[in-house]
Amino acid sequence: MSELTSIRIGLLGCGTVGTGVLRILAENREDIQARLGAELVVTRILVHDLDRQRDESVPRALLTDDPLEVLGSPEVDVVAEVMGGYEPARSYVLAALKNGKHVITANKALLAQHGPEIFQAATDAKRDVIFEASVGGGMPIVRMLREGLAAEHVESICAIINGTSNYILSAMAEHGASYDAALARAQELGFAEADPTLDVGGGDAAQKLSILVSLAFGRHVPFAEIPTQGIDTVEDLDIGYARTFGYAIKPLALAQSHGDGVEARVHPALVERGGSFATVSAAFNAVRVDSRGVGPLLLQGQGAGMLPTASAVVSDAVELGRSFLRGTSGRLPHLAFLPDGRPTTGLKDPGAACHPWYLRVPVRDEPGVLAQVAKGLGDAGVSVQQILQDRPSEDGPVQVVMMTQEATRSAITGFTQDAHEALWCLGAVQAIPIHEGV
Ligand code: HSE
Repeated sequence: MSELTSIRIGLLGCGTVGTGVLRILAENREDIQARLGAELVVTRILVHDLDRQRDESVPRALLTDDPLEVLGSPEVDVVAEVMGGYEPARSYVLAALKNGKHVITANKALLAQHGPEIFQAATDAKRDVIFEASVGGGMPIVRMLREGLAAEHVESICAIINGTSNYILSAMAEHGASYDAALARAQELGFAEADPTLDVGGGDAAQKLSILVSLAFGRHVPFAEIPTQGIDTVEDLDIGYARTFGYAIKPLALAQSHGDGVEARVHPALVERGGSFATVSAAFNAVRVDSRGVGPLLLQGQGAGMLPTASAVVSDAVELGRSFLRGTSGRLPHLAFLPDGRPTTGLKDPGAACHPWYLRVPVRDEPGVLAQVAKGLGDAGVSVQQILQDRPSEDGPVQVVMMTQEATRSAITGFTQDAHEALWCLGAVQAIPIHEGV
């Protein structure tokens, strides 16, 4: 019997995801060998602190704090970057490619910020960079867009891709938790970023959406250009009023392909309570992809956490292993499209995005105020579909809550700015998009 081929992996980082990789390789060893016809073996592990207490699945003899012992080792075929952050992750990935290693990365921030540089370096070195774990944790959304839908014209993406934001809004809606308590719990559970403002401010979702847009439409949209509104603007009151109208509030990332550009945005949105997105609870993620021939596809699963993310990293190692064995390494486009397969295109004007809105206007309790609100909306060209008025606390303002017909973001911004300056308005106007059909 011939000896089993080994695909040798060097890990950069051994925190939660790195430890999960070692556990999955050990626990699923037989399944992986039976799928690949080769074994996946970790031969080096780069860590910052050699003396730190670690899980028993981490072989101490493989640890090093010298990056060259991984990046330059002849005993490493594939470098798996699971350390996160921009630097030194970027330099290490570029050095690994230069040294002839293939690269797996779970690092959405790195790809969203430095993707073009890294993919060009991989093309020059004729090496692969794959990144299933960078978006949606254990959900195989990258592979689905790159391979499963390779024959398709993708039209739109609607996703919940920040588990922390979904966890917070779900805890507030379903258990009456306060925003601060829900965020603290998400941090304890380990799925919030080191800087949670990236989660609750929408930056993490924008980074992931930028990667999905590249895969789905073949166009690079820098994540910093994606209009982003965080869930930190949503109040208990809004969750309650949304429910009264038959909606839940979910943290959405949306992208749509148009002939003249891409529309992309990240914001909380009202979704129908009977729809599939309203029931995606806690830290779960979901991605719906609509394409011309296949129609809607929905993936739902754990978008963060040790084993789901590590599983995606190991699935990338299996894919690279299959390429080695078939002799097809370095031949496939990293982002589903050939680098010159699509013209560069900008984002469409976010002010032109048109959909229904939830509006909450805190006002003085005086005769004629409702007429002023209606006039302001009329002047902005916004038509109201439903309206309710409430006074949640005796000493607080009256809340005028409305569901509008379709209106552009520019029109809504015009109304909120004018209202802000009016004497009848007693605070910031809340404006949250309504997203129908998911
Ligand atoms: N902070 C991220 C989230 C972790 O909450 O979804 C996975 O990228």
